[in-house]
Amino acid sequence: MDKYTTALVTGGAGFIGSHIAEYLYRQKMKVIIVDNLMRGKVENISHLLDEGIEFVKMDVRNYDVIKDHFKGVDLVFHFAAMVGVKFATKRPLEVMDSNIGGLRSALKASVKGKVKKFVFASSSEVYGDIEVVPMREDLPLSPISPYGISKIVGEAYCKAFSQKYGLNTSIVRYFNVYGPRQSSEDKSWVIPTFLTNAIEDKPLVIHGSGSQTRDFTFVSDAIEGTMLIAKGGEGMTESYNIGSGKETSINALAELVLMLSESKKDIIHTRRRAFHIKRRCADISKAKERLGYRPKVNLKDGLGMTWDYFVRQKKNTSPRGTCHNTT
Ligand SMILES: NC(=O)c1ccc[n+]([C@@H]2O[C@H](COP(=O)([O-])OP(=O)(O)OC[C@H]3O[C@@H](n4cnc5c(N)ncnc54)[C@H](O)[C@@H]3O)[C@@H](O)[C@H]2O)c1
Repeated sequence: MDKYTTALVTGGAGFIGSHIAEYLYRQKMKVIIVDNLMRGKVENISHLLDEGIEFVKMDVRNYDVIKDHFKGVDLVFHFAAMVGVKFATKRPLEVMDSNIGGLRSALKASVKGKVKKFVFASSSEVYGDIEVVPMREDLPLSPISPYGISKIVGEAYCKAFSQKYGLNTSIVRYFNVYGPRQSSEDKSWVIPTFLTNAIEDKPLVIHGSGSQTRDFTFVSDAIEGTMLIAKGGEGMTESYNIGSGKETSINALAELVLMLSESKKDIIHTRRRAFHIKRRCADISKAKERLGYRPKVNLKDGLGMTWDYFVRQKKNTSPRGTCHNTT
């Protein structure tokens, strides 16, 4: 990060954004977090607030107010979004308005503030339900959920701002990031939901047969990949898959959670969710070859670290959830 000294993270009180903010802060950068706390939590960043990190509690769509915070910033990570397929299915227009309106406002503020690099958090949802695995960045994009559509529009917006205003933008397509600080509140994410059920000694509920697959990426690998993208070159807006490159079925994940938690509870199968995706796995060769990205944490170890965090959280011992070092 040598060439940058100041960063702004939208959505920085959320799961991934708080890890990004923490990583940058530990690199001795000046960091500003913008979050409306719609889903993010002050607990995720309270240890950083104690150390003096700047926090602006604000909706990123509020351009007139947020634009001043982008002045003199080198790097912007735009991570604010209403996240998740389940949530977006229930409130599609609100999600479009927030995700696309928020991105547009952040892009405009970045142009005005003369930001040097803008990184946008996109999603593997842009690939839709094609059964081509592993998925390469140059596959045709065909999202099927409102959330995925908001991300494909976001990617197009980044490219447009790059072409029209010369803003240096990059896109990171995450594949099922998990780890400490991920919310289990609305059961949107399978790993926090399984772990919470195991802690509460409840059965694990799988939607559909469980043969559907996902690529689970531990948050420290996601952060490392994102930093490599942020450091990457100028020029055309590039998209990079950031995943583990490993395909795991939901049945296999459930078995791992039962083993880890030593739970004797059952696995229950229920009906499939709307916008069911059969297979998902990242082809990470582009990030490997161009950026030197190498995911390091396997699913068993990552689940173990996440389990420890959820157990400590349940016991109310205020875990910080820091899980990467910056040395
Ligand atoms: N977690 C994953 O596996 C995953 C996968 C693909 C993409 N992503 C993307 O990564 C980013 C971070 O995801 P996350 O899992 O940390 O989710 P999260 O919900 O924990 O974080 C999103 C944050 O954005 C904030 N926010 C939402 N709308 C806002 C607005 N209009 N103004 C200001 N703040 C707002 C929320 O309060 C929250 O803190 C999102 O853009 C998401 O779409 C995540």
